[in-house]
Amino acid sequence: MYPIFWFPFLLFPVITNAAQSQKPFANLADEWNIETQPNPNSTGHLVFDTVSSLLQHWPNTRYHSGHAIVPGTIPTGTLLYHGRQNPHTPTVHEWVSTDPEFARIFCGEHGPCWMLTLVTTRPLRVLYFDGSSAAKWSDGRMDTQDLLAWGAVLPERATIPWEYPRLERLCDVGATQAIDAYVRMQFNFEVMLCSFTDGVQTASLSRLEDEEIEPHHMHSYFHSSTWHDSYPGETRIHLDLTHLISLYDVALAPSLIAGRVGQDRREHRVLGIDKRDTDTVVQRVRELPFSPSASGIDWSTQFQVIRDRYAKRLEVLQSTLTATDEEDSAQRAFHQLQMLLMPYRLRSTVPPPAGWNTDWAAPVYRVCAQTHTSFIESMKTTLTASEQLLLTSAQETTREICRTVVGCWAEGMLELRDSATISGSLTLKWKSEVDRLMGWLGWSLWVTCRPACEFPESCYLPVVPFSKEGWNGSVPRCVRLFEPYFLGGY
Ligand SMILES: *[C@@H]1O[C@H](CO)[C@@H](O)[C@H](O)[C@H]1NC(C)=O
Repeated sequence: MYPIFWFPFLLFPVITNAAQSQKPFANLADEWNIETQPNPNSTGHLVFDTVSSLLQHWPNTRYHSGHAIVPGTIPTGTLLYHGRQNPHTPTVHEWVSTDPEFARIFCGEHGPCWMLTLVTTRPLRVLYFDGSSAAKWSDGRMDTQDLLAWGAVLPERATIPWEYPRLERLCDVGATQAIDAYVRMQFNFEVMLCSFTDGVQTASLSRLEDEEIEPHHMHSYFHSSTWHDSYPGETRIHLDLTHLISLYDVALAPSLIAGRVGQDRREHRVLGIDKRDTDTVVQRVRELPFSPSASGIDWSTQFQVIRDRYAKRLEVLQSTLTATDEEDSAQRAFHQLQMLLMPYRLRSTVPPPAGWNTDWAAPVYRVCAQTHTSFIESMKTTLTASEQLLLTSAQETTREICRTVVGCWAEGMLELRDSATISGSLTLKWKSEVDRLMGWLGWSLWVTCRPACEFPESCYLPVVPFSKEGWNGSVPRCVRLFEPYFLGGY
C-alpha cells in the first residue's frame, strides 16, 4: 500500500525553505494579512490573463487592444495560404493565413480566384502581436505594431493603404533579428511574410471555382475562427514566452500606468506611451535572443494549471452564491470553499476559541499563494526579464485568488465555530468578494452564451465586420454559422 499519509509531512520542508528565502516580515500575519488588497496599479493579473490567452481567438476578440509582442517560430512543413485574383506569386512582403478560409476572401467580391499554398522549408522566425491586431481600426488594436514600425503610435495609419508601408518597416526593423514574418489576428490568424522565397516554397498554385464571397465564403471564414477560440489556440505558432515583451510590464513601460487609472480594461491601450519607454521596447525587440531561455520551465502549462484549478470552481461558487434563496446554498458554498482550498487547509490551522479576526488563517493563505511558484522563485536570479515578469504575474494572481477564497473560508469557519449554520449576511459578503475577484481576474472563459448555444449555432462575440450593429465584442450571442445564415439584429 502506498503511504499517502506521508505527503503532508513532505510538503512542510519545501514551504518552510521558500518562506525563508523571502524578505523577512515582522510576522506571518503581517505578510499574509487577508485585509491587504493588491495595489490598484499592479498589472500581474493582466499579464497573467494576456499570456494565458495568447493565440486564442475568443479572449483576443474581447480584449482587442494587444499588449504583448512575442517571438516564436512556425515549424517546417506548415502550410500557409494566399488568395489572389491572378496567378502571380508575390516577390516582396505579403500576407498569408494559417487557414485557407481566411485567404479565400482575398480573391475579391467576384471574378477569378487563385489559391497559392506555400509550405515552410525551415522553421520561420516570427513576432506575434496579440489582440485583434489585424483589424484596421484606430482604437488600439494596432498600437504595438505601430510602436515597432514607426517608433510611435499613429492611429491615423490604421487604414488599408498604410498596411504595405507598415509591413515594410516591420521587416526592416526585424531584419537584424532575422525575423521572417509577423503574426496577427482578426477572426483568424495571418502571417505577414517578409519574403515569399526565403524559408517557404510553393506547394501548389490552383485556380479555384469563381464564386461570390457572400455569403458562403464569408461565413466559412467566421466559422474557422471558432477552431482557435480557446486554449491552446493557434498551435502552428510556437511562442517563446521566455522572451515575451508586455506593455503591461510596469518596469518596461511606466509611462502607461497613469492612463490606466480608472479605465475599464477594454479601454487600455498603448497610445500615450512616452519616448523613453518606446525606445526601451524597441531596443528589447532588437536584442531578442535566437533561442528560449534554458530554465526548462513550461510557462504556458504552468499558467494553464492555475487557470484550470480555479476557473470552473469560482464560476460554480459564484452561481451557488447567486442562488441564495435555495435552502442549503450557504452550506454548499462553504463546501465549495473547502474543496477550493483542499491542498492548503492544514490540520494545525484552526480558529482561536474566541474573536473575529482572520489572522489565524495566514498559514493557509501562504501555502495557497506560494505552492505553484515557490520553487521557481528560488531560481529567480537565473531567469530572463520576461520570465521574472511571468513569475511575478503568477504570484500576484494566485495571491489575490487565495486572499479572497481563504478570507471567505476563514469567516465561514468562525461562524461555524459559534453556530450550526452560516448566515445570509455572510453569503452576501462572499458573493460580493467572489464577484470582485472574478471581475479583477477578467478571464474571458467566463464570458459565454447562457443558455449554451444549440447546434448548429455557435457562441460568438460579434465584432466588425461580422456584425452590423453591436460591434464592440463584449456581449456574446448564439449565431448560426451554417446556412440559412442570419445576419440581422446583431
Ligand atoms: C498609481 O499610479 C498613479 C499614477 O502613476 C499614482 O499617482 C498613484 O499614486 C499610484 N497608486 C499607488 C497606490 O501606488
